[in-house]
Amino acid sequence: MSSDRLDRIRLSGDVPSHVAIIMDGNGRWASERGLPRHLGHREGMKAVREVIQAAVDAGVPNLTLFAFSTQNWMRPAAEVSALMSLLQLYARKERAELRKQGVEVKVLGDLSRIDEATRRAVDDIVEGTRGGTALNLNLLISYGGREEILHAARVLAERVRRGELSAEEIDEAAFEDAFFTRGVPSPDLLIRTSGERRLSNFMLWQLAYTELHVSPVLWPDFDREDLFEALLDYQGRERRFGRVASP
Ligand code: IPE
Ligand code: IPE
Ligand code: MG
Repeated sequence: MSSDRLDRIRLSGDVPSHVAIIMDGNGRWASERGLPRHLGHREGMKAVREVIQAAVDAGVPNLTLFAFSTQNWMRPAAEVSALMSLLQLYARKERAELRKQGVEVKVLGDLSRIDEATRRAVDDIVEGTRGGTALNLNLLISYGGREEILHAARVLAERVRRGELSAEEIDEAAFEDAFFTRGVPSPDLLIRTSGERRLSNFMLWQLAYTELHVSPVLWPDFDREDLFEALLDYQGRERRFGRVASP
């Protein structure tokens, strides 16, 4: 599918190696139409499909989607259960297509909290897409940035207690190695949809030098052109990492 924006992204060549998205606004999308919130989440699945294909087309090698936060467990039970059912449906429906697209799926977060049926569906999609080389897709479920850092601190403390590690050996790499997102590079670009300008406990450590793009579009309406617009915005940024600008 040709797109003027996609051509411009390719010409610039500086495609982010990792894009992370806080997929927000499903509830508002539904409310605006007088629909129950879960229908907004269902519609959001279409945007997931579209954005994955667009990321593959643009040559983004790593895509992370924030699908359910630790704090989202505090939503009404009916909404939580609708979200878990959707996750199962997504995993079952999309597995074959993702495999065909060359997408390798990883599901990261505190998975001990999700129910057995959802867990099985998640395991199946991870198993069924293993080895895909076009795109590494991370789905963050039951995930919180603070919880991830606390979890890592506990893992490292335990290793010190067992004498496997000295306190001096605790460095950034040791921390990152104990994260749910172990092995996933830090995002270059973070997109948050629905106009909200906050992190909501997402990848707090990893976002230290990430470029931020807030889109006003509600997640179910977010399409490939919106992703390309975010990539073009990224390509216009100057990343300094605390240094001075290059001459
Ligand atoms: C994002 O949409 C999906 C999840 C957080 C699971 P929301 O459900 O947060 O939608 P709004 O923010 O209420 O519109
Ligand atoms: C963040 O959105 C979590 C996900 C998109 C999965 P929320 O809708 O939960 O965040 P807040 O409550 O507006 O900060
Ligand atoms: Mg929200």
